[in-house]
Amino acid sequence: MKFQPKAGRGAIKIRLIPGSLERFDGKTLSVPYGDKKTLSNRGFLMVMRKIIATAKANKIKSIAASFTDLKSLAPKDMGDYEIGRVAGTAFVMADYEHNTYKTKPKEGWGQIEIAAILKTPDEGQEGFADGLIIATEVNATRELANTPAGDLTPKSLTAAAKKTAKGAKIKVKSLGMKEMQKLGMGAIVGVGKGAQVEPEFIIMEYWGANKRSPTSLVKSDFARPVVLVGKGVTFDSGGLQAKGGDHMYEMHMDMSGGAAVIHSVVLAAKLKLKVNVVGLIPAVENTTGPQSMRPGDIIKSLSGKTIEILHTDAEGRVILADAITYAKRYNPAIVADAATLTGAAMTAFGEHANAFMTNREDQIMDFMDLAEESGDYMWPMPLWKEYDYIVKGRFADVPNVPATGNSRYAGVIGGGKFLEVFAKELDCPWIHLDIAPKMTAAPDEHLAKGAAGSPVRFFLSLMEKYAQ
Ligand code: BES
Ligand code: MN
Ligand code: ZN
Repeated sequence: MKFQPKAGRGAIKIRLIPGSLERFDGKTLSVPYGDKKTLSNRGFLMVMRKIIATAKANKIKSIAASFTDLKSLAPKDMGDYEIGRVAGTAFVMADYEHNTYKTKPKEGWGQIEIAAILKTPDEGQEGFADGLIIATEVNATRELANTPAGDLTPKSLTAAAKKTAKGAKIKVKSLGMKEMQKLGMGAIVGVGKGAQVEPEFIIMEYWGANKRSPTSLVKSDFARPVVLVGKGVTFDSGGLQAKGGDHMYEMHMDMSGGAAVIHSVVLAAKLKLKVNVVGLIPAVENTTGPQSMRPGDIIKSLSGKTIEILHTDAEGRVILADAITYAKRYNPAIVADAATLTGAAMTAFGEHANAFMTNREDQIMDFMDLAEESGDYMWPMPLWKEYDYIVKGRFADVPNVPATGNSRYAGVIGGGKFLEVFAKELDCPWIHLDIAPKMTAAPDEHLAKGAAGSPVRFFLSLMEKYAQ
């Protein structure tokens, strides 16, 4: 989609009308926004997406909307830049479709080519331009996650990270099996060794901050970075304890957190944020093979702690353990991880909120505000002492699923408590996002079926918060 200030020939005029009845007369498309006169952030974002979804459904290629019309629906405290940014992001996210594997129909893909936004003030135009940049990275995240696992291996995820970082001020490198073994990253090696394809540990660095920043420790010459960690399981069969029924379907998207981290780092660079950002993505395929980890196996993590594998399908937390330990060497300002970690998070929240847990209870409301403004909604879960039984080891320091108690209880918190064991070694805030709920788009959010690209927008808000 291209944004421009003037309408081209044949552009369909967009009108926003109250009520629920959509109309199209060949020249004007009337998009109903419901009955409220002023919308919340959420409501506004959704109407913006609906414009595009409705235009696409009517096979329209070129639209013209007036900024004043859009603004009349925005929350009263939203400035022109923000309106442009939210609308621009919503437009481009609603336009995306995963067509890569389909034959192009004669009439082309039903996407919007040109969106003219008339009478846009300068700040609004800047917002639209940034919205386009943001949604382009969100959509690239979705495209990576949607790619079938046969085509997206740890190696090709690494290649994708290197390719997308080209031209931007980003350093990318990756550690292979041998290097990880040498460093003692036994957790990633343990999960990854069962597959034909080798595991990779992808490291991306964007040094965008000025040399010294207010958050910098005296010891370091660089501002402490925001470290983003993403689960990069390119396919999760469950391992030897294979998933049954149709639970294995969609597990090519189990690298959604990793894809989000890759494109969040790129986004920081493209928006030239004055912040240092490090992305860490352990990439593995969790599958069956003669070398696969077995229930009862004990592996030694990078932290030195031993992990007893009590369930081969709880692999995400195991690989993240090494990544969180690795984060420590950057002296981070904050560590945030995103992982499609538990089906239990979907049982709890359905498809409308990611779950989050943090070692800073006093910052829960701040994180929620950030999430709300970003459009990547999430809701907290506790990491109380009462749940410590979940990580009590039997034959090793930590089990990857509870060795005692009812294994159906507190599934989301169990993932968080396991990671907390490794995050305890950090001297900074840490936030864990269980993004299984938002791995795929919900039916009522005007997004194409498939990957949702969460939590790139939350990560952006977080990076902006830490920027100079
Ligand atoms: N990747 C899955 C979780 C998942 C399931 C994400 C469905 C998105 C949709 C994860 O690795 C997993 O298998 N978790 C297990 C944990 C259990 C063994 C403690 C689960 O949720 O069943
Ligand atoms: Mn699993
Ligand atoms: Zn998984």
